[in-house]
Amino acid sequence: MKLNKIASVMAVMLLTSGVAIAKDQSLANFHADMDSCQSCHSKPIKVSDSETHENQQCRSCHGSYEELANEKLKFDPHASHLGDINCTSCHSGHSKPQLTCNNCHNFEIDMPFADTKEKKKWDAGWNQDKIQKAIDKGPVETLDVIVVGGGSAGFNAAISAKMHGAKVVLFEKAPYTGGNSMLAAGGINAVGTPQQKKKGIEDKVEWFAEDAMKGGRYKNDPKLVKILAEESADAVKWLESLGANMDDLKRSGGARVERTHRPSGGASVGPHIIDVLRKAAVDRNIDVRVNSRVEKIVLNDDKSVAGVVVHGRHSGYNMIAADSIVLATGGYGMNKEMISWYRPTFANMTSSNNVTATGDGIKLAKEIGASMTDIDWVQAHPTIGKDSRILISETVRGVGAIMVNTDGKRFINELTTRDRASDAILKQKDKYAWLVFDEQLVEKKKMVRGYEHLGMLSKANTIEELAKITDMNQLPQTVSAYNKYQKNGKDDAFGREDMPLNLTKAPFYAVKVAPGIHHTMGGVAIDTDSNVLNLQSWKIPGLFAAGEVTGGVHGFNRLGGNAIADTVVFGRRAGEHAAEHALKK
Ligand code: SIN
Repeated sequence: MKLNKIASVMAVMLLTSGVAIAKDQSLANFHADMDSCQSCHSKPIKVSDSETHENQQCRSCHGSYEELANEKLKFDPHASHLGDINCTSCHSGHSKPQLTCNNCHNFEIDMPFADTKEKKKWDAGWNQDKIQKAIDKGPVETLDVIVVGGGSAGFNAAISAKMHGAKVVLFEKAPYTGGNSMLAAGGINAVGTPQQKKKGIEDKVEWFAEDAMKGGRYKNDPKLVKILAEESADAVKWLESLGANMDDLKRSGGARVERTHRPSGGASVGPHIIDVLRKAAVDRNIDVRVNSRVEKIVLNDDKSVAGVVVHGRHSGYNMIAADSIVLATGGYGMNKEMISWYRPTFANMTSSNNVTATGDGIKLAKEIGASMTDIDWVQAHPTIGKDSRILISETVRGVGAIMVNTDGKRFINELTTRDRASDAILKQKDKYAWLVFDEQLVEKKKMVRGYEHLGMLSKANTIEELAKITDMNQLPQTVSAYNKYQKNGKDDAFGREDMPLNLTKAPFYAVKVAPGIHHTMGGVAIDTDSNVLNLQSWKIPGLFAAGEVTGGVHGFNRLGGNAIADTVVFGRRAGEHAAEHALKK
């Protein structure tokens, strides 16, 4: 093992020192040359779908991500917001490596063994014959609860089901967990928390519910909204009990008070929560299997849930039996076909979503007769970095940024709801806008450093200079007027209520933004216990759903901070009810 380790460390040194490696050398061959296939694999070779042994081998030789992090690199994939994911997510042994970061970014990073031939993707298509064969063969494993999808809703469901005594497995199709939740930048909305109390913020469950209903243009299901509001404080407490830091508070668009809870220090909420949930699952011995795509929900003759067919990267197609299934597969914001069908006007828009948001749960549920709610309601977030997939969080406006058009003029209350802000931007010249802020904001919001690092910010020492480099000739007058409104506590132009910062401290910054697909509000119809409903609005026995795969919670438009609240509140409910259903059978 020791020799093995030295050889591997040498391999890394060779790679990073630029010494040429034979062109046809793959990562697998390179390791096999050192110490046979057992450099990576067990003997006899048996690769689990999660590639657990192989990834342990990577780490035992090359070290942890922390050890591998290289501060000299401009973009260091080993210190990314994806967190502690499998090494094999990027470094494939037998096929061309691929930088997971570039699902959203365009980093130019030389990957070792980049000349390896690309192989056909294991999950490139559906195979009905293999699905049917797996069903005919019968279950190879029996569980109480199957959770489909490894974002916040899925993890919360799995942890909750396990805590209620169920034997549970979480399946995630991607090589890493996190889903869209991992990209969440805002926070979790909650009412009646110690954090609000400490800041002296008066808030009420009824206000939370009213704000969500108003934001959703009163198209939400009021029963679901009531639960979201009532259980929100407990959701924050639960996350804290699992190890999360939710100490910071801010106000999101459409909320009448500060109720968006986030990690102190300005870090993004998504990577933090996912990190906490991943560890909580490990601590509770929850079996999380990545590279495992659920292809079909199998029903008994009485139409109750019998299990699923899972397509594992290495195990192939297998039926797994369970009395309860929780769908937590997220929305369809990255499925061009579904967007074109349900919301054709958004067909060419960029998306802030993870590549995993392809509407799988909706398809699985539809196939067995589930009803859909508001399936065509798609939210455009007003501030995606122009020509990118990078979300510029609403919290940037919440903390104090102003939004101006290409002339440098404000055109809307920056804290209005997302649908209104997006519509307003699309009415401006060239259909984009700028967010403008100063150094005070950067000091408060750590995440802005990330946008700077990505080269998205224009920066200048004076507002006049910023106006010049961005061609926004009205900007100096706009900023001077805004600073007066901020000082007087009254926005005479657009009635913005919350103006925490003026724009006076150099340097000054601007970032170009345009609307992009952010959240699909519609999805599988559920009742208040997260049971999935059929076309007659009856429960499909044993089928539950939570998070963005569902419809009804957010109505026509979701408020910032309500997605994570939804995933935690309804994820926990789905897990609990799924466990109860399975265990009483
Ligand atoms: C944002 O920070 O703008 C996104 C947060 C959310 O969608 O709730």
